[in-house]
Amino acid sequence: MTAGQLLARATQLLKTSTSPSLDVEVLLAYVLKLPRTVILSNINQPIKPMKIAYFYWLVWRRRRGSPIAYLVGFKEFYGRNFKVTQQTLIPRPATELLIDKTLGIIRANDSIKTIADIGTGSGCIAITLAAEAPHIKVYATDISKYALTVTKHNARIHKVSDRVILGLGNLLEPLRNCKIDMVVANLPYVTKDEYEANPELKFEPKSALLEPAELLEKFCQQLSKHPEIKFVLLETSPQILENWLKILKKYYSPDTISIFPDLSGNSRLIMIDTNTSPNV
Ligand SMILES: C[S@@+](CC[C@H](N)C(=O)[O-])C[C@H]1O[C@@H](n2cnc3c(N)ncnc32)[C@H](O)[C@@H]1O
Repeated sequence: MTAGQLLARATQLLKTSTSPSLDVEVLLAYVLKLPRTVILSNINQPIKPMKIAYFYWLVWRRRRGSPIAYLVGFKEFYGRNFKVTQQTLIPRPATELLIDKTLGIIRANDSIKTIADIGTGSGCIAITLAAEAPHIKVYATDISKYALTVTKHNARIHKVSDRVILGLGNLLEPLRNCKIDMVVANLPYVTKDEYEANPELKFEPKSALLEPAELLEKFCQQLSKHPEIKFVLLETSPQILENWLKILKKYYSPDTISIFPDLSGNSRLIMIDTNTSPNV
């Protein structure tokens, strides 16, 4: 069977997916260890039976809803590939806004030398910041030791292990004795209703998505023990924004808090400029 015939058949099998052609091209590229463009310009190339069997196995898993990133083992984020496993959230394109904003703040504030990424998962935020801003040291914490194994691997691949320091534990607890200039976090923020309404989310770790009770409250309490922090950037969603603002306003005066939308116009980032003293 040729690559073209295989792609056509598999596309039919995935026709309920939102992007069947792209999905099968990415899977075949992964199986053949070739760029997608090379496969598309050689569609009459015959494919070996073992490769066909492996490809169909991946297509079958995709048909059952498994995200492409888990099937191929990586996800592109801010121009770099990050290893992902079923213990890590798949980096989202929307999170690139947090990177852009953080880099903007770093460039405008020479005094920012250390950043803490809380709930680092694959490490996509911490590692991207370390790679894009070579003068910055990044602390990366997560409550999942499995996630931190993946972070460690990604830091090594992207050659920033010397400036990405890992901490296992609850929020900022592993950083009790560290001086931190800025905190960034993409904490779990999916509501129970959203989780139930989106079956595709069930493939990712629940603990990375569903907001546990009082997470933000605990986060704010820990932040207040670090008066040296100048900026806090939090990824958020329109569904949770009002609740989070209510909590944040107990700790920070409203004029220190700004909201930024993503490209779709949804509120996506909360920035706290702590140069104005916290309320507590
Ligand atoms: C939404 S994911 C974000 C992962 C990654 N930063 C990204 O943007 O792709 C949230 C992460 O926070 C971690 N997490 C959840 N509760 C935590 C806690 N109390 N302390 C530290 N990390 C936590 C999860 O294990 C998960 O890796």
